[in-house]
Amino acid sequence: MVTYIDAAKAPLKNDGSIRLYDAEAFERMREICGITARCLDGLADLIVPGVTTDAIDRFVLEFGLDHGVYPATLNYRGYKYSSCTSINHVVCHGMPNAKPLREGDIVNVDVTYVQDGWYGDSSRMYPVGQIKRAAERLLEVTYESLLLGIAAVKPGARTGAIGEAIQTYAENERCSVVRDFCGHGVGRLFHDTPNILHYGHANEGPVLKEGMIFTIEPMLNLGKPHVKVLSDGWTAVTRDRSLSAQYEHCVGVTKDGCEVFTLSPGGLDRPGL
Ligand code: MF3
Ligand code: CO
Ligand code: CO
Repeated sequence: MVTYIDAAKAPLKNDGSIRLYDAEAFERMREICGITARCLDGLADLIVPGVTTDAIDRFVLEFGLDHGVYPATLNYRGYKYSSCTSINHVVCHGMPNAKPLREGDIVNVDVTYVQDGWYGDSSRMYPVGQIKRAAERLLEVTYESLLLGIAAVKPGARTGAIGEAIQTYAENERCSVVRDFCGHGVGRLFHDTPNILHYGHANEGPVLKEGMIFTIEPMLNLGKPHVKVLSDGWTAVTRDRSLSAQYEHCVGVTKDGCEVFTLSPGGLDRPGL
């Protein structure tokens, strides 16, 4: 049984109910998600062969502090960085380090800023110099799958419609969908109810209602969907070491569809730019 609660009156604790946010909350999300999107825009010129993921992480921290926001991942459940930087076969939660990126790498940078208790969570892929056609195709398919997931969001549909749209398209394009991680409610909590699966069927999951806010963040692999988490407790990699990609947006359900809060002001949030 699913229960929905008025987010403005609900305690700040995930008790399994789904928060419904008002117009003022949507305005707060536009602000924080806009800063996240501008940070991701700013990374586009920085990410070239030779740059380290430490330097990317520093940029994310400083950009945040310059804009009066804080990286929500810093000291989150023991995580020590301002971003996740996931290279090639790393699926997600890659930790920044001092190793330079190399020509041909693909890297996901995932940033969540928090301001006055509002969370803006988004990630994009960045090609490092010239990349192979297979990698480029994976980025295009992953981004398109996110757009199809977003297009499935409207009141009355179930969360499963998002997963079905993503999975059907991805598998048709001979990519696999990672099952071990999912999108999530967001807003006044970093990770809230409901889970947004990137696979499944349109008749599954809770019914979407106007005012819900959540992320959609599909991870697609060129090989098999299976992942393992390395002994550092965070880094998730594909078991077959095939390439993996991810894009993430925050969306809010509107009367007849959804608003994407983390769109790029520079139009830089799609591959091939
Ligand atoms: N930003 C990630 C997400 O999309 C969560 C990262 S948590 C961390 O949900 F601790 F790994 F940083
Ligand atoms: Co997220
Ligand atoms: Co994220």
